Amino acid sequence: MSIQEQKLKLNQPVALDIMTQAEAERRVSELIHQIEYHNYRYYVLDDPQVTDAEYDALYQELKAIEGKFPELVSPDSPTQRVSIGEIVSEFPKVRHEVPMLSLSNVFNPQELAEWSVRAAKYLDRKGEYDYEYTIEPKIDGLSVALLYKNGVLVRGATRGDGITGDDITVNLKTLKSVPRKLRPADDGEELPEVLEVRGEVYIPISAFEKLNKELAERGEKLFANPRNSAAGSLRQKDSGITARRPLNIYLYTLAQKKGGPEIKTQWEALKYFERLGFRVAPNIKLCATQEEAVAAVQNWIDRRDSLDFEIDGAVIKINDFATQDKLGFVGRDPRWATAYKFPPREAVTRLNNIQWVNIRRTGTINPLAMLEPVNIGGTTVKSATLFNVDMIERLGLRIGDPVLVKRAGDVIPNVVKVMEERRTGTETPVVLPTVCPACGAPTTRREDESGDKDPRIYCTNTPYDCPGQMRDWIAFFGAVRGVDGMGEKIAHRLFDEGLVKDYADIYFLKKEQLLGLERFGEKLTDKLLSQIEASKQRPLANLLMALGIPQVGEKSAEMLANHFHSLEKVMVAAPETISGIKGMGLIAANKIVEFFGNPQNRAVVQKIIEVGVRVADPIEEDGGAKPFAGKTFVLTGTLVNYGRKQAEELLKKRGATIGSSVSKNTDVVIAGPEAGSKLTKAQQLGLTVIDEAGFTRLLEENP
Ligand code: IVH
Repeated sequence: MSIQEQKLKLNQPVALDIMTQAEAERRVSELIHQIEYHNYRYYVLDDPQVTDAEYDALYQELKAIEGKFPELVSPDSPTQRVSIGEIVSEFPKVRHEVPMLSLSNVFNPQELAEWSVRAAKYLDRKGEYDYEYTIEPKIDGLSVALLYKNGVLVRGATRGDGITGDDITVNLKTLKSVPRKLRPADDGEELPEVLEVRGEVYIPISAFEKLNKELAERGEKLFANPRNSAAGSLRQKDSGITARRPLNIYLYTLAQKKGGPEIKTQWEALKYFERLGFRVAPNIKLCATQEEAVAAVQNWIDRRDSLDFEIDGAVIKINDFATQDKLGFVGRDPRWATAYKFPPREAVTRLNNIQWVNIRRTGTINPLAMLEPVNIGGTTVKSATLFNVDMIERLGLRIGDPVLVKRAGDVIPNVVKVMEERRTGTETPVVLPTVCPACGAPTTRREDESGDKDPRIYCTNTPYDCPGQMRDWIAFFGAVRGVDGMGEKIAHRLFDEGLVKDYADIYFLKKEQLLGLERFGEKLTDKLLSQIEASKQRPLANLLMALGIPQVGEKSAEMLANHFHSLEKVMVAAPETISGIKGMGLIAANKIVEFFGNPQNRAVVQKIIEVGVRVADPIEEDGGAKPFAGKTFVLTGTLVNYGRKQAEELLKKRGATIGSSVSKNTDVVIAGPEAGSKLTKAQQLGLTVIDEAGFTRLLEENP
């Protein structure tokens, strides 16, 4: 059985305070195994089997045990992955034992055919130009080499000049899709003594967008494109930063292998990588003829826009390793592989104007580049994001400038640079807005602590007086509350059409109102309303985050919810109480108090409370009712409507102890159909026995 198929059994953990060293050791290894497995499901297969909360519980348990038994912390532990921010001043150099080569290029089917003929000639294969080929996407990221000795990751390096690269092991170890330890397969397949694999590290396009948005909101420098963001993240001197970046990897090269199974082809290598727990790009094809290869390349061209990673071509490789060896290299390029390059999705066009339309709930006014319409890879591009003033200054933009615009995936294009040599001299400086285009209030630029100019321009009004800020606040609220179907466009429309004046109003929306809007059919309306309704029940932490209180993100919202358990308590908390919570600072505490001190905020929050949104979390540890405290329950047989674990949990929550066998100390036996000897014994002892219906009733009577 391979790692993908392993079933995980969840043993009942022993409570930490009574755990022996041996039990701790066993549990740690169990937890590591499970966490690695779930990492694999999540990061490699993109098919998680547990919720985030369940994953966190495993992780926290492991951290807790390691905290109590520090001698059990192994460098392979997942807790060590988010490395405590190792800082290096310079990366040591690494010499690649097997050079990291580049690829020749072809640009059309004709050139691909010629490449194939050249290879055949070299092999002296007369008239027989068809080999087996693999067709892989050419991922636009950074190539890295990973070296494993006896299954342990010992070194990770950049390509550098192909001969010497940088040792970035600490950074690569922070990638969840880079196994630190290869797992021996259950079917006895041996791990190689030495294994060097290579692949491309990249940042998914959606994650790049999100990252830049976050950087922009914090007023930090932005990345020009996904590739730059991957490069910048991977080459961080502080691996703590790398760990927070959404880096990922796809493997494509087997560079060295001593021991382990025999791998004779590229196709087998790719399958082998998957068995070892690595990620391999989707949709790789094994083709028997040139025609099939060309069709597979065309398929990548067609799908390019729908992918969440940037590709700049497809890579065609002759499948058989023995044939590859015979073909060898010309200079730096292998004769057995070539890159079928796709047209770059960039174009030079003119910056006609900058519009300051994009206003955020925090008051920032963001620029949008209005371009002379230009066709880039089949799409007409009319505008591009500029994120903030800093970007304008960094690019040195002037109105009328010839600019290079690049499109990645399906997202809004970026202005990459000014083509200075093509300037005509008629370009004019960018004028920053002095008033907010949404409400007319004066704008301001703040300074940060170091006296540097904040790269953002702010509206000086509050969201209650600036429609630009309020409509974004509503969109933010909907997004955090997880209201599907209330994306930015819809949220803005609801505001612009006057259906909602603040975020609480979404809970007062009526079906007739929505049906009155253009393009709002019955189906869309019902879906939106049911999504909004469902969002009412999200936990308190989610609500706290959705309110958009300055300084309160996901983590601090969690902390507040765990401490106060109710919105009302947060609203009246003193700053000292809040800053007394571990992990909460005084600045955030003051912001929270200030937020709830504002009568306008209070009025909106009051509406939320009145409309029946969940504003409190049940107190789990001790405060809840424990009607079954001191009672022992035994379950036997199968229940139709409850899983065994679930039934036990429901009882435990009410204070019950669960017994494994029936004795005179048992208080209640719950017997489903097919109950066996336990039921007989309970009857002999004259114990209370109830069936599933009785169990349900009991739960209802003791909520
Ligand atoms: S094979 C000798 N396969 O493209 C074989 N490279 O232009 C060289 N790349 O440096 C690598 N996807 O960074 C290969 N599926 C893929 C690839 C790929 C992206 C990059 C890699 C390499 C560059 C060569």
